[in-house]
Amino acid sequence: MYNKEDIKTLQQETQDWLIKKQPITTNNIEQIRDILRFHEHRYYIENDPLISDYEYDSLYKLLEKFEKEHPDAITKDSPTQRVGSGLIKDFPKTQHLVPMLSLENSYDEADLIDWDRKAKELSGLNEIEYSIEPKFDGASISLVYENDLLIRGVTRGDGETGDDITPNIRQIKSIPLSAAFEKNHIKQIEIRGEILMNKTNFKKYNDGLMEEGLPPLANPRNAAAGSLRMKDPAIVNKRNLEGFLYHVSFITSTKKDHPEEIHTHSDMLKLLWDIGFRSPTKEMKVVKGINEVIKVVMDFEKQRDDLPYEIDGMVIKVNNLELQEKLGMTSHHPRWAIAFKFKARQATSKLLAVEYQVGRTGAVTPVAKIQPVHVGGVTVSSISIHNQDYIKEKDLKLGDQILIERSGDVIPQIVKSLTDLRTGDEKNIHFPEDCPVCHHTLFKPEEEAVWRCTNIGCKAQVVERIIHFVSKDAMDIRSLGEANLRKFFEMGIIADIPSVYEIDYSKLKNLEGFGEKSIANLQQAIEKSKEQPLHRLIYALGIRYVGETTAKTLAQKVKSVYDFADFTNEQLLELEDVGVKVAASIYDFFRNQDNIEMLKKLEKLGVQLHNTAPAIVEGKLSGQTFLFTGTLSLLKRSEAEERVERNGGKILSGVSSKLNYLVTGEDAGSKLEKAKKIPSIKIIDEADFLKILPG
Ligand code: IVH
Repeated sequence: MYNKEDIKTLQQETQDWLIKKQPITTNNIEQIRDILRFHEHRYYIENDPLISDYEYDSLYKLLEKFEKEHPDAITKDSPTQRVGSGLIKDFPKTQHLVPMLSLENSYDEADLIDWDRKAKELSGLNEIEYSIEPKFDGASISLVYENDLLIRGVTRGDGETGDDITPNIRQIKSIPLSAAFEKNHIKQIEIRGEILMNKTNFKKYNDGLMEEGLPPLANPRNAAAGSLRMKDPAIVNKRNLEGFLYHVSFITSTKKDHPEEIHTHSDMLKLLWDIGFRSPTKEMKVVKGINEVIKVVMDFEKQRDDLPYEIDGMVIKVNNLELQEKLGMTSHHPRWAIAFKFKARQATSKLLAVEYQVGRTGAVTPVAKIQPVHVGGVTVSSISIHNQDYIKEKDLKLGDQILIERSGDVIPQIVKSLTDLRTGDEKNIHFPEDCPVCHHTLFKPEEEAVWRCTNIGCKAQVVERIIHFVSKDAMDIRSLGEANLRKFFEMGIIADIPSVYEIDYSKLKNLEGFGEKSIANLQQAIEKSKEQPLHRLIYALGIRYVGETTAKTLAQKVKSVYDFADFTNEQLLELEDVGVKVAASIYDFFRNQDNIEMLKKLEKLGVQLHNTAPAIVEGKLSGQTFLFTGTLSLLKRSEAEERVERNGGKILSGVSSKLNYLVTGEDAGSKLEKAKKIPSIKIIDEADFLKILPG
């Protein structure tokens, strides 16, 4: 879309605007819009930004200010016009120009061979050229552009008609508001694609839900589909959705003899890419014959976990468009395409019983015991069912057959109960009225979903608070595993958080499994934890709604943890990602004298309560960027990443010319291939990585 010359010019113009800060006029306004579109393209489509977010924002604000003062100068496809104002009342039903069909599924080689055989028979050819691309696991949409402008974005609906969700589609930065179709003699075009939430954003979104005490979503597909149906486009904007466009279903031309210029699906995807769409041109492979197809799909399945977004298979398409037309379709699906489904991450099981766990904040969480089932590479036998409302919403009963899903890194979730399979013997789930541990009456504020034990001394809460404090993402005292900690608590060796630092080690000597060496290790791990960075301590305190992300934000704002005692509610609300509930919870925590006493005790015992972060992030790896791919054998990925950051380095999310080191583990996939094409990237293995780390 942008050739080298264009890039040079646009970069030069960017610098001019940034440095000279010239006033916008009606003459140069299109130039600044083009600059912003170019940088959006680099960021959202190429995944390789050329300027900082700050620089982009300053140019954006310049344009926004001018348009506010001169509303007549606003155009429909100005980069500022994504952000709509006001709420959507309802989504009008709209007919698709061409029905949105689904694809036939295949699950193994034999299915593919059979499908190829039929296509060859129907076409009379000996060998067919296929294009293969990922089967994106998101929400499908249909976009209509007329005279270069995006005029409609519609959900799949029943395939014939869907909901017009245009204001929400306009929030997705990888969907262009306008594109140069007319130059390519295209007057009207309907394009199909998939809206996704990538794995990183999904994790953040789910963490946010859990920090709010809400149940997480089972998979990014539900997150994307749910986001598209929000009545407030501003919320959609915050969800950071992205789109891939993979099929043109309808096209009219400004020229009589068009669209014969494009003969293949792969060229169509390239054309889309060239005029600014994120089509899967880089992911796509074009091959001849089904045997090659089989190789490609098998190979791609191995890379599945390395991709930044979820895919549930591959789609194989006859590449020649004329041949596609000749093959036509059955009443359900085209004969020229087939989906190859990867191993399912869903499985069915039976809900056997429900147990209730009391968490560190007193929240009582129902946990379903299910018939053990293998899903997504692990055996699942219990699964959180979050709260009473969730049980009602999912209509769960004891004895139900249930569908569960384990999507990527997400903890397994129940998708639904299979109510059609009920026998009549299923039993209702009765939520307890008293704490299952201390028998204190449970309490639930009207507006909340979670029942709580309000007895602050409830043993279950105390021990859970300590478990959280020492856990991997908090103070990370690995030698003090959950089982040992529970044992120590029962024996009175540990009674509360500060007492972790007051263990009488002589009492451990007589315990089974505690030799001199393991005691020394434990002591050392506990000592070491005193130096953990402040954000870990803040997270470790277990303040309600303060997860890892919020803890990191908070830690950046203070010199010492005590500073929070001086923050007003308003000051807390000004912090990134801190909403009303979170602010109130932090405020209450630091106004509670018992908590301040606990902090003082920890400080006396040598725990670091001050912010040492700025001193640490300048390190041997300052200015260097890293990315890990494949399975590491010596370190966990999170550990390796943390060591980079601790030494001043930065972790990038994808391969680009900004990357200095790609560290490869076993089964490194597409990232490695991509990195090989960029000579400036140093590709190293785990052992080399450990060598460049200090000490
Ligand atoms: S082509 C007429 N290509 O999978 C054929 N579909 O199970 C149009 N999907 O309805 C579809 N990735 O929502 C196509 N690369 C891809 C796809 C893809 C995901 C979805 C799409 C379709 C469903 C069929």
